[in-house]
Amino acid sequence: MALLEIKGLNKSFGGIQAVSDCNISVEKGKITSLIGPNGAGKTTVFNLVTGLLSPDSGEILFEGKKINHLQPHQITRMGISRTFQITRDLQEMTVLENMVVQSQVHGFWDMFGSSMLKEEEERAMDLLSFVGITHLAHEKSKNLSYGQKKLLEFASVLMSEPKLLMLDEPAGGVNPTLLESIIDRIVELNKKGVTILIVEHNMELVMKISDPVICMAYGTVLAQGSPKEIQDNQQVLEAYLGE
Ligand SMILES: Nc1ncnc2c1ncn2[C@@H]1O[C@H](COP(=O)(O)OP(=O)(O)O)[C@@H](O)[C@H]1O
Ligand SMILES: [Mg+2]
Repeated sequence: MALLEIKGLNKSFGGIQAVSDCNISVEKGKITSLIGPNGAGKTTVFNLVTGLLSPDSGEILFEGKKINHLQPHQITRMGISRTFQITRDLQEMTVLENMVVQSQVHGFWDMFGSSMLKEEEERAMDLLSFVGITHLAHEKSKNLSYGQKKLLEFASVLMSEPKLLMLDEPAGGVNPTLLESIIDRIVELNKKGVTILIVEHNMELVMKISDPVICMAYGTVLAQGSPKEIQDNQQVLEAYLGE
């Protein structure tokens, strides 16, 4: 069953057709990768799905329900979470505060007073432990290294308990040790039932953990298949050579 379905999606910025008649189906339970040369429209697809941009035309369905024109927080509440290519932490806040701020249920728990907030804090600590940075819980976010910020963002988007997790270049600029750790966390989450869509240039990660792989170029889907099929696809090779 398709958890997320994108049908005939279009988005242009001035004269640039960033997404052009794009059709993508993300199957429930899988790890799907979205690859393609710079400027292919991958991040724009993420922005359209998460409600940061609205499409010129086309449909986006999540669990069979149309989500275009919903607000980002409504989309999050439905079960879609995403990370950003450039991490977006709140510099002056601690790691723990960053986690709690991210949580979409914050306002709801507030009504019940601090005892409920405590539950949220515990959940945040569990997730920090999941990514291995509990020791940084009370550190200001601005003091974190690039890699630690990546881990914080990864943990914080899990606060809303997403059904679909969308990762925009989770391995971008990380060292090999951290890459290993990120790969393990993604696989572990997927085993717990979270469906995952990843935009990533690191082919080691893409080929190791995802199936299918979808290749975009010029705003549309060029090819879709198993990692092996995509690696051997002539059109995909040409799209990268033309970058
Ligand atoms: N907010 C924007 N305003 C103008 N042009 C944009 C904007 N976002 C993306 N684009 C353009 O849309 C195209 C696709 O970009 P993007 O989705 O970021 O590609 P990718 O993530 O695959 O590298 C590029 O030509 C980019 O310059
Ligand atoms: Mg991008």
